[in-house]
Amino acid sequence: MKIVQVKDYNEMSEAACSLIIREIHNDPELVLGLATGSTPEGLYKKLIEKYNQEAVSFKAITSFNLDEYIGLSKDNRNSYHFYMENYLFQHIDINMQNVYVPTANSPDAEKECSAYEKLIRDNGKIDLQILGLGTNGHIGFNEPGTKFSSRTHIVNLAESTRKANARFFETIENVPTSAITMGIKTIMESREIIILVSGERKAKALARFINGEISEHFPASILKKHDNVTVIADEAAMNNLK
Ligand code: F6R
Repeated sequence: MKIVQVKDYNEMSEAACSLIIREIHNDPELVLGLATGSTPEGLYKKLIEKYNQEAVSFKAITSFNLDEYIGLSKDNRNSYHFYMENYLFQHIDINMQNVYVPTANSPDAEKECSAYEKLIRDNGKIDLQILGLGTNGHIGFNEPGTKFSSRTHIVNLAESTRKANARFFETIENVPTSAITMGIKTIMESREIIILVSGERKAKALARFINGEISEHFPASILKKHDNVTVIADEAAMNNLK
């Protein structure tokens, strides 16, 4: 696992942006795995800037999002469909036919999970997956205790995750209790993974991720077994490692 230490959130976003652009230049048909949450907001801003400067085109890429809340419509401002549209898709030349976010409102959510998994497989797997780190070690919405062998599935969100994400909602009661997420095995099959970690809020989790044992109690720990993972972390997040 490669660890890149950067000064702050801005540098983290810049480093991730450069890496993605390099990969798109190498392969304009890249299959990109995307995350939501506060961590990649800066990265998406930088990608849009680069697109506006004509330094990159997203025309031929395909994207798969990690997860989506169950129970929120696509136009609910807290849904990940809305987030992606707002923070990235509407500002770039990506072909919306090649954009995939789990449909968490489908009447048969189990069927949606296997269909999503098949779509990823049919696209030849994910070339580059972007991840954020949950304070409880989750990746995607794979909460502590999720099997490393899991594929796209429905999850009940941990109370700690609902609390952490309550900042986006009016009250904690409004935070959905379940979601669809790519599984840990699905994520591990990506050819390359970049995990972004910023801020003191993540310092404990980052220290456990880097120094702790590999265990299903801390989902991100499995990434240490992947042979092409880059952690881009800022000084505040690295604080507990010193
Ligand atoms: C988001 C996702 C989550 C977040 C994680 C960190 O699609 O899958 O695993 O990456 O919860 O969230 P933030 O970035 O808001 O701290």
